[in-house]
Amino acid sequence: MCAYLWGSVLKVVILNNIYILISQQSIQQIQSRIDIVDIIGSYVKLKKRGTNYLGLCPFHNEKSPSFTVSPVKEIYKCFGCGKSGNSIGFLMEHEKLSYGETLRWLANKYNIELEETETSPEFKIQQQAADSLYIINNFAKDFFADTLFNTEEGRDVALSYLKQRGFREDIIRKFQLGFNSSSRDDFAKVAVAAQYNKEFLLKSGLVVQRDDRLMDNYRERIIFPIHNQSGKILGFGARIIKSNDKAPKYINTPENEIYVKSKILYGSYFARMAIDKADECLLVEGYTDVVSLHQAGIENVVASGGTSLTIDQLRLIKKYTNNLTIIYDGDNAGIKAALRGLDLALEESLNVKLVLIPDKEDPDSYLNKIGAGAFTEFIQVEKKDFILFQLEIALRDAGNDSTKKSVVVNQVAETISKINKTAEFTRRQDYIKQVSEILRIEESGLNALVNKFIRDKITKDENLTAKTEININAGESLTDKQPDEAFNLFNKDEIHEQALVRSLIEFGLKDWDEDQKVASWLFSQIEDNELDKMLDNKLLVAIIQQYKKWYNEDLEPTAKSFLYGEDQEMNKVIINIMEVNTDISPNWKKHYEGHIPTRAEYFREEVISTLNYLKIRKIKRLIAENEQDLQKATNPEDQLIYLQTQIHLKEMEIEITRQAGTVIYK
Ligand code: GTP
Ligand code: MN
Repeated sequence: MCAYLWGSVLKVVILNNIYILISQQSIQQIQSRIDIVDIIGSYVKLKKRGTNYLGLCPFHNEKSPSFTVSPVKEIYKCFGCGKSGNSIGFLMEHEKLSYGETLRWLANKYNIELEETETSPEFKIQQQAADSLYIINNFAKDFFADTLFNTEEGRDVALSYLKQRGFREDIIRKFQLGFNSSSRDDFAKVAVAAQYNKEFLLKSGLVVQRDDRLMDNYRERIIFPIHNQSGKILGFGARIIKSNDKAPKYINTPENEIYVKSKILYGSYFARMAIDKADECLLVEGYTDVVSLHQAGIENVVASGGTSLTIDQLRLIKKYTNNLTIIYDGDNAGIKAALRGLDLALEESLNVKLVLIPDKEDPDSYLNKIGAGAFTEFIQVEKKDFILFQLEIALRDAGNDSTKKSVVVNQVAETISKINKTAEFTRRQDYIKQVSEILRIEESGLNALVNKFIRDKITKDENLTAKTEININAGESLTDKQPDEAFNLFNKDEIHEQALVRSLIEFGLKDWDEDQKVASWLFSQIEDNELDKMLDNKLLVAIIQQYKKWYNEDLEPTAKSFLYGEDQEMNKVIINIMEVNTDISPNWKKHYEGHIPTRAEYFREEVISTLNYLKIRKIKRLIAENEQDLQKATNPEDQLIYLQTQIHLKEMEIEITRQAGTVIYK
């Protein structure tokens, strides 16, 4: 390895839009120490099979092992559920860490000191804003807690209110609840006196500007701090004490660098261990529901804040468990809000159950009414499967109307079709069986209907992919062809594009001739600005550019250099490329005496032929484009130019084809 490493840095995203940069050198140090068998072996029992290791997949339930770890390629792949990746990806998935956290985890394990380099200016600004907001929020939390416990108004108005609702002091302290007084600017005054920056105070939503003065935004309200996964305060929910028709019941922090509503689940910081342990997450609507359930010893609970669930919130839950139990008020609004999240949750492979709280109560009030023991039992007994529940409601609405009933069948079939991951086959079949029994229809009929929805969805997705690719391929007109056909065509091109990248990564550091390496030769063949005209797949282009950057910095890039980068999409592409099976079948080996040529011996031929294919494809596209321009051209001068271009392009095509020396492409 060479010494010239200092210039290259890598972007790392950690929690909530804060960025840090870890030097490429540190990453390489970690990379050189990683032993994938050691890392995965501490989670999965692995047995050696040939050059690989085999075990039971930790990502899906299986009885016979299909989870393979390749120490040579430094990757794992499960042939049952299809999950694949490298050590970093495995740790990210298994330990629920971000990329940056994983690097830290590994650095810690191998006693490597991480070198964090200077951040770029815009990240620095972001980071400073986030840091300032965290600091202000923390200050505010202490101030509000102090006001709650240590001022007369706090004790008389707020603490007594909370106690009268049944909240114990220890739980109030645990959730760091607070109070802001009814005066106009109690908080604003101390914040300004403590010299907090006005811009960030406004951003935090704790104060508002009236004329020249800063005023408190949350007056005479109970304050619920909202924590992130590691306990830092993202923002607040502030509940009015004396209800008032004009003022909203709750005021929340406005969106800012750290408070991103769609990603927040109230209580997740206090619930995460319990969720993991119970392998179930309870979801309620309100702040008080979370606090109340905690007080009763039910700690695996988070709140959505009264809006329908977002994909980011579902993914946050999925980090800890696949089992989501939604506990909502039995009124119509509650049910509707819950139903809206269902399809998304199913697509995320969550098992969704539902409990409806009766009698116009909410979880907090119902718990207070019937007591903790009865409440826990109520949840267990009333927990209904969400799909079957939805069916129940729809059937009740449809009554005896057979047209409406057939709509219900279609709806439920579509819902079941959302459970369509390979590993979920059994679960889907279970639903089909249960639902056909409830509806008293034939199981095979429902099965066919569900499959139709799955097929429709796949075709729709493929059409979408095909369409976007057609836009990129301006030169080729494929719009009038069948989608399947178009799809295959793209695949063929994609394979050639991948082959070029594979050649570069596998053979780039080999000698092309006495003067240069394969990589140098390849880069001399492709101009920088030509690259994205030659390859349609933007990720592959990015890989080549990254390779070139490293190569020019005198690093020696290999597949591993990419596998340990942050970009998981890129990692997947690399793994796919490297995995294309080039092993020789053992049967053939048995029958074939003597030497079997390997790809490594033929690398020059492989590099030239893939490059030529892509060059010819590019020229063909240019020719097609030029032909179109020629047809559209109206004045003779333009026509002449296009004709000359045409001749020139044809000559180039012939030349490259001649060099390729094999097939004449039509
Ligand atoms: P309590 O009435 O004190 O028990 O609070 P709650 O959490 O039970 O309130 P509710 O059931 O009315 O609302 C559920 C959740 O919706 C609340 O916890 C808030 O997150 C949110 N919410 C309710 N009212 C408002 C409002 O006026 N504005 C905003 N932004 N959110 C609200
Ligand atoms: Mn309530």
